[in-house]
Amino acid sequence: MNDQASTLRLIAQNNTQKNSMYSEQQATETNPPKTVRRMRSIAISGGKGGVGKSNLSVNLALALGSIGNKVSLLDADFGLANADLLCGVTPKHHLGHVIAGWKELDDIAVQISNGVQLIPSGSGIEELANISVSAHTNLLHKLEAMERSSNFMLIDTAAGISENVTGILISADEIIIVATPDPTSIVDAYATIKIILRHSPEKPIFVVVNNVVGVGDAEQVFEQVSYVSKRFLKREVNFLGMIPNDDLLVEAVREQIPVLEYAPEAPSSRAIKLIAKQIHSRNPADLATTGEAQSFWNRIISK
Ligand SMILES: Nc1ncnc2c1ncn2[C@@H]1O[C@H](COP(=O)(O)OP(=O)(O)OP(=O)(O)O)[C@@H](O)[C@H]1O
Ligand SMILES: [Mg+2]
Repeated sequence: MNDQASTLRLIAQNNTQKNSMYSEQQATETNPPKTVRRMRSIAISGGKGGVGKSNLSVNLALALGSIGNKVSLLDADFGLANADLLCGVTPKHHLGHVIAGWKELDDIAVQISNGVQLIPSGSGIEELANISVSAHTNLLHKLEAMERSSNFMLIDTAAGISENVTGILISADEIIIVATPDPTSIVDAYATIKIILRHSPEKPIFVVVNNVVGVGDAEQVFEQVSYVSKRFLKREVNFLGMIPNDDLLVEAVREQIPVLEYAPEAPSSRAIKLIAKQIHSRNPADLATTGEAQSFWNRIISK
């Protein structure tokens, strides 16, 4: 058990080192950068419903916030938006109201903890496709200003791989795929990775294994996702971490308090804090650092 735990930790650390070496090399190649884009957009997906995407999104946002980051959490699950429920807040307005010109971005953002804000999107992102060019430029300026004030934007996506979800995934800088030991989750994780790579072959993809009972579970799930990606898609995916099956998380959901606040020392909270540290310490490998870099919102709007 301990051996397996250290193997997985080593894999995660090794990924961190590889990525930071890559980015040092990239920084020299692109030296001097015109501007440095600070925000990293990370979409949380997985294909299958109920694998823990929203819980990971909310708690990871809090964990990244607690180590000094400014984080925006975008709830992009239009059908069943529930990041607000998990945080125990009830936003009245969403991105759709900003697009319609009724509200400003600041009016819709809900502060959920120090440095962490929730951006309810309603059907907002779908509506971005249908707005006029002038409204589009105006909105883009506002959204990009918001980007500049955050270090991270975490995007909680809906289950499935609809066109909307795919659009979000290929617009984000990095993807976290949440998988569980359930065999259908592994199949859905693979299907999601396949679609991402079809549109965006270089996208960095990380795997979090949720709901594990033992470390062996996590290792097995990661091995399977990794094997099929290598074999059929010729692509490596990176292990980012695992989250144990945890009754305290279930209780926290019932209480509408993020587990990180409900039970900071719960096994799931500790695991999510470790994942946040991994993300925080890793230099983003593929983030363009020049002024030409397109923002997440620009990519979403112009897709
Ligand atoms: N680590 C865990 N331990 C125990 N239960 C968990 C864990 N992770 C998730 N769950 C259970 O799964 C439920 C669904 O989690 P969550 O809403 O985060 O999934 P989701 O992937 O966002 O679902 P959807 O696809 O519907 O958006 C939680 O309410 C909780 O009961
Ligand atoms: Mg969800």
